[in-house]
Amino acid sequence: MRVLLSSFVVFAACTPGQIIMPPPAPVEPPALTRVTVTPVDTTRPMSSTVMSSVSALGLSLVSGQVAVVATDGVTVRIGTTMTPVPVGPMGADALGTVRVIGRRGAASLWLTSTGVFLERAGRLLRSPISDSLPLPQVKAIDVVGEGDAETWWVRTDAAVLRVSGGALDSIALEDPNGSGVLKAVVGRDASTAVVVRGERLYLVDVAAPKVTVLAKGLGTVTQSARLGDGHIVFATADGLVRVAPSNDVSLMVFGAAAAVNDVAVDGDGALVQSNGQLFSLLVDEVKVLGDVAAPVVSGVVRDTAGAVFTLDGQTLERLATTAEEQPVVFADVKPFFTAHCVSCHRSGANYAPIIDFSTYAKAKQWAVQSLARAQNADTPMPPASSGLLRPSQYAVLARWVQGGMLP
Ligand code: HEC
Repeated sequence: MRVLLSSFVVFAACTPGQIIMPPPAPVEPPALTRVTVTPVDTTRPMSSTVMSSVSALGLSLVSGQVAVVATDGVTVRIGTTMTPVPVGPMGADALGTVRVIGRRGAASLWLTSTGVFLERAGRLLRSPISDSLPLPQVKAIDVVGEGDAETWWVRTDAAVLRVSGGALDSIALEDPNGSGVLKAVVGRDASTAVVVRGERLYLVDVAAPKVTVLAKGLGTVTQSARLGDGHIVFATADGLVRVAPSNDVSLMVFGAAAAVNDVAVDGDGALVQSNGQLFSLLVDEVKVLGDVAAPVVSGVVRDTAGAVFTLDGQTLERLATTAEEQPVVFADVKPFFTAHCVSCHRSGANYAPIIDFSTYAKAKQWAVQSLARAQNADTPMPPASSGLLRPSQYAVLARWVQGGMLP
């Protein structure tokens, strides 16, 4: 039996080999150490809305550009337009209904009702491994390693499947003290994976073979990622569960204790959504990147140009890269006044005092006071009745004021 991962030669479907793991030693794992991190709130990158009314499963990368994944297809952002990504060689493969977004190195993969699709040269191509997997039961796929060492860790409700060295195996976990649904499987390499089943976190070493309980009492897991620095992280209802390469496990809580909804790999670190905010996490340093009112799972990616995209409810938002953080001039901030302020202040509607935000001289005169009002929770501008602005939305005004209100 041979199972090919990346080549496009189709091999006959096969039944997996069985690996039954010995039960873990009945030793209670140490209690989870809880680490509260205080995020650094430096100048936030500017955010802009790329698309509204987006109905999507989440975000992916296609050729390094942000792509919106809907159940019926994938569209990629090229320049400033969203373009559908073509499927298969001349439409030979039907995409079916997209169910799951995964990652394979720096590229994406998609699990659909008809197979596993990989990206090649801007097209979605069906992988021959699709014929070997029990597709309807597959809940997630994690790909670790490259070339001959490439290994796929596949999660179904009941079993962990592994495709490695051309063989497909089903790995059965036995634990008399723990049961429940498999919630996450993240490979560390070709023979070890970190697995969440029920409320327990296991290290599974197929080569030894050995299973160790690393932690228990985990909350609901919504997302997982393997970071470039070797940590494996899980977004859970209680915070970010972080497994170090040494197998030490900690529970990271961001500021106000709250659920972590989503996590995505970002180089050696991660992008984390918790409590309405988006953070960047690198080793132990956490920075606030922006606000996310209605986070969507699989809803954050960084493109190759360094811009971060989030899916906030039905809105695709883009946060500028550091390289783009040029000094803000009046031309940058004028559209902000036009969008949020002039409806009342140009004509004096709604009893607003007349303020002319269209000329540099006048806008500059009112800038400091305007920022103070935008930041003022008691008497905000625009008034609460017409919809509060999030800090990322008035970041452009803050940066214009901080930069000395350049013409
Ligand atoms: C829905 C109408 C409305 C919108 C939109 C609005 N304002 Fe106002 N603004 C008012 C009203 C009414 C007042 C006077 C009452 C008050 O100060 O709260 C006011 C007062 C102000 C003042 C104080 C003026 C003074 O004489 O002290 C500033 C500054 C201001 N707004 C800035 C802004 C900015 C900047 C925006 C856009 C980000 C904005 N407003 C959007 C209605 C609005």
